Amino acid sequence: MSFPYDRSKVRSLPRKITSKTDQVVRLHLLDPHEGGQLAAMYLAYQPRNSFQGLPPIRDEVCIRWVDEMLASGVHIVARSTGPEIVGHCALFPINEQKCEILVVVDPGHQNLGIGTELTRSVIHLGCELGFEKIWLPVMATNLRARHVYKKCGFEYVPTKPSKELDMICDLSNLRTEPALPQHEATPASTPIPHFVTVNEAAGDWSIFQPVDLFGDKDVV
Ligand SMILES: CC(C)(COP(=O)(O)OP(=O)(O)OC[C@H]1O[C@@H](n2cnc3c(N)ncnc32)[C@H](O)[C@@H]1OP(=O)(O)O)[C@@H](O)C(=O)NCCC(=O)NCCS
Repeated sequence: MSFPYDRSKVRSLPRKITSKTDQVVRLHLLDPHEGGQLAAMYLAYQPRNSFQGLPPIRDEVCIRWVDEMLASGVHIVARSTGPEIVGHCALFPINEQKCEILVVVDPGHQNLGIGTELTRSVIHLGCELGFEKIWLPVMATNLRARHVYKKCGFEYVPTKPSKELDMICDLSNLRTEPALPQHEATPASTPIPHFVTVNEAAGDWSIFQPVDLFGDKDVV
């Protein structure tokens, strides 16, 4: 699908947050020319694999994985004192109402509150862009991610017992919440095509075309 991503609708970014170690961290929409910096964050990420939002192991696959994400999603990045990107979150449209979320924080900057604020920002971004629901899969063992998502308003989707859990954030519950602090407006307009996932474990590229992941679920 083609999603009408209009950057002029985004009023909540950029914004500044303070980490748990009192570092000022800036969250902003990724500009198209900053894709190389995002790839650099993922190439430096340890450990790397293609599971649950972690980057693929081989460099060339990792770079292509980032390129695919850039082409199919809308992206927020976090920067601390240095020029490098220390956190990334993205929304990947499934259809005009629903999207999938990815949140990843550089290992050296985890547990400082950045992932929580990235998640809050991307939820607001989803509201601003007119989505109704944000979906994610999370490993049951990923307790930190589950804690962050629950804290930010995601609820578990009832499913059969599995190592992987589905969570959904219903944005219609949040539309009356106060907006995040506003800073400068962001210009321009960039269309994003559709949700793409890369499966490195398959041995090569498997592109999963958009599917309605909510159609057969009992959404809470
Ligand atoms: C998951 C992730 C995005 C969270 O980002 P982060 O910046 O580390 O998270 P924050 O510092 O904002 O918050 C971490 C919270 O988890 C809590 N936490 C940490 N370890 C925990 C554990 N083992 N069990 C439960 N809660 C835990 C912290 O106390 C903190 O909660 P609090 O602020 O209410 O005290 C980040 O750790 C990450 O990138 N992980 C690897 C990629 C990943 O798994 N992404 C999610 C794929 S679904």
